[in-house]
Amino acid sequence: MKIEIEKSLLKSLFVLASVVEAKDPYTGGHLWRVSQFAQLLGNSFGLNKEENAALAIGAFIHDLGKVGIPESILGKKGKLDDYEYDVIKTHSDIGSQIIQSHPLSNLVYDVIRHHHETPNGLGYPDHLHSEQIKTFSKIVGICDAFDAMTSTRPYRKGMEIEKALNILEAEKGKQFDEKLVGIFLNISKDSLLHTIGHSEEGIPLLECPACEAPIQVQKITKDGDLGVCRACLGLFGLHADDKKGFEVTTFQRFGKAEELAQDSRVDTDMISSMVQSIPKTVELVEI
Ligand SMILES: [Fe+2]
Repeated sequence: MKIEIEKSLLKSLFVLASVVEAKDPYTGGHLWRVSQFAQLLGNSFGLNKEENAALAIGAFIHDLGKVGIPESILGKKGKLDDYEYDVIKTHSDIGSQIIQSHPLSNLVYDVIRHHHETPNGLGYPDHLHSEQIKTFSKIVGICDAFDAMTSTRPYRKGMEIEKALNILEAEKGKQFDEKLVGIFLNISKDSLLHTIGHSEEGIPLLECPACEAPIQVQKITKDGDLGVCRACLGLFGLHADDKKGFEVTTFQRFGKAEELAQDSRVDTDMISSMVQSIPKTVELVEI
């Protein structure tokens, strides 16, 4: 199915999706990374430009329903208990309800609702089996899990790439689609490493010197600016190094409310450039 894209609508959709990241100090850049991994996998799978653009949009918006999950659970330090995990799992249902009356619903509904379905039928919310899950949802499921494994969480450091790839391999046919995992494993490590640990093209995440949470800098950040850690609300100096990008210099102090408000957390420049890169017409893969 071909879908005409109204760019201003698409932009509002991306802003909405970014609100989720603003709520969770540990997921900085997750949506961008999942979208990048999905495009790499989509390319290797043989999607054309319009199909890969539709996939990129779905990948960026997939966790929309997390706006309905309490921050105390989303950003919890330490492992979630069974009840909290059940609450998190409601996000795919919540997201599909939020999006169903949106004009671009056709484009993203399935990925939002089904990115946690698994070929073995043990996924959620509809417990679909492999042949019932569409390709885009399967791709986003793999890329979402790969990013979760290689990213730092409140209770653990991000995994090495090899370990995460071995887990995908071990789970193929069970948690992840067998054929798509096979294609993912053939993507060059360099292209994956280009995205792992980054929040944008060429912009690596930093680590908070006080609490080790990931810190996101934006393209507009300059040498000498103050960085904000959304996990501990610390402020620190940022030093731009031509070769290494940004480095955290001194931890300053905990931020005042008005200083924290300067850091809106929704990177509108990044969103604008993503919207610009999407062609006028995109195409959904129906299988
Ligand atoms: Fe999700």
